[in-house]
Amino acid sequence: MTQELSAFGGNRAASHRIAAVILGAGKGERMNSRLPKVLHRIGNRPMVLYALDAARAAGAEACVVVAGPGMAGVAEAVAPVPTAVQAEPRGTADAVKAVRGRIGPDADTVLILYGDTPLIRPRTLEAMIARRRDGGNAVVVLGFRPADPGGYGRLVRGGDGSLEAIVEAGDAGAEQHKIGLCNSGVMAVDGAVLFDLVDAVGSDNAKGEYYLTDIVGIARRRGRTSSVVEAGPDELLGINSREELAAAERSFQQRMRRAAMAGGATLTDPGSVWFSFDTVLGRDVTVGPQVVFGPGVTVGDEVEIKGFCHIEGAAIARGAAVGPFARLRPGAELQEGAKVGNFVEVKNAVLKPDARANHLAYLGDAEVGAGANIGAGTITCNYDGFRKARTVIGDGAFIGSNSALVAPVSVGERAIVGAGSTIDRDVQADALALTRADHTAVPEGAARIRRRKMSGTAGGRN
Ligand code: UD1
Ligand code: CA
Repeated sequence: MTQELSAFGGNRAASHRIAAVILGAGKGERMNSRLPKVLHRIGNRPMVLYALDAARAAGAEACVVVAGPGMAGVAEAVAPVPTAVQAEPRGTADAVKAVRGRIGPDADTVLILYGDTPLIRPRTLEAMIARRRDGGNAVVVLGFRPADPGGYGRLVRGGDGSLEAIVEAGDAGAEQHKIGLCNSGVMAVDGAVLFDLVDAVGSDNAKGEYYLTDIVGIARRRGRTSSVVEAGPDELLGINSREELAAAERSFQQRMRRAAMAGGATLTDPGSVWFSFDTVLGRDVTVGPQVVFGPGVTVGDEVEIKGFCHIEGAAIARGAAVGPFARLRPGAELQEGAKVGNFVEVKNAVLKPDARANHLAYLGDAEVGAGANIGAGTITCNYDGFRKARTVIGDGAFIGSNSALVAPVSVGERAIVGAGSTIDRDVQADALALTRADHTAVPEGAARIRRRKMSGTAGGRN
């Protein structure tokens, strides 16, 4: 019984004729980065993919992401979802124009999301779609009440609660600044009028940009109503700076931790465990403090992960034990009951059932047989400076402490490698292999040395 942790909740059945546009062409200057803003990562995944997933989970069939010129990375990240290019970042309305001809008027509702707002939930989008259809609204805007409305656009409502206009912070008067209800940026627009509305947007405003937010006022002047759906600020944090990126990451991690615990995992110190978007935990898994899950980790039922482990690209089967202080790198596979203890690094290596490497070892490009024991200080020497090679250790083999296994090499089933050996030839099943300088013991030798060193001194240590 495993579950993929989801920070967003389940998805419902797809509705028909919903399209989505994800805007990601802004320069993101406040990030102060060479990387386009929407490629910065949340939960180890480019943030633009979250808005995209939410739109699809809410039933959007046709999705297009708007990127800037030279943002090939964005197209790569979202593929196979197509990208449209906005030639210049002239504002959010101009960005929507870039998808003309890509999203037809046959879409009854077009969702518009910002690539820099990754925490949005599908059910919120579903509520917006329903409001758009049921009320015959031209535009439904997702509003929220942030603790600090600061630079967000303000939602101006009429006496009947309908949405009359959106005023950008830079263009708002003193009275409008006091409005606490803000524009999240997310909209559901009647597909039949979307491009008529954005074509009517001008750029006579504080920033000299084409504001998508103007379509609400324009629709109203054309006799069409608009409406607001509200959601919590935790879903709608927009990321414009590294600080906001960190805040969104915290919020995302909180969701993942809650999902992990709801799914039957014990997190001793939830706040210090970090998940990736795709972490999968089984039931009755225990995770100690300060554990980091990189991408691509699957953990079976009843696994114990002790504190201070770093795990990435690894599959850990039922009943296995990891840590404390273990590092599992991509391609690590711990089969049932396998054990990896402190200061052990595993990369591209399989530990078959009940195999153990309890302390201080490097297992790379290796196969460790069922029930085999890897002594402290064992190193698989998988790299000769030119190429990588494999080490294969048979079932029930015993590798003594401080052994170097020079790959390619194999150690047969039940074989024993004596401590301190350097093994560069295959060891047969049931054999004992030992490479060790002869032991020399000189009776009384230590005592003689001590007497010699101490003669001529005052008898003290030196
Ligand atoms: C926008 C809204 C504001 C809202 C806020 C919520 C407008 C005019 N303002 O302001 O009302 O409160 O989001 O976070 O829409 N983008 C393009 N092309 C452009 C400009 C922007 O694709 O020419 C994209 C950006 O990549 C980003 C999104 O649109 O994903 C929002 O742009 P941004 O500049 O961050 O808008 P805000 O000033 O935050
Ligand atoms: Ca923004």
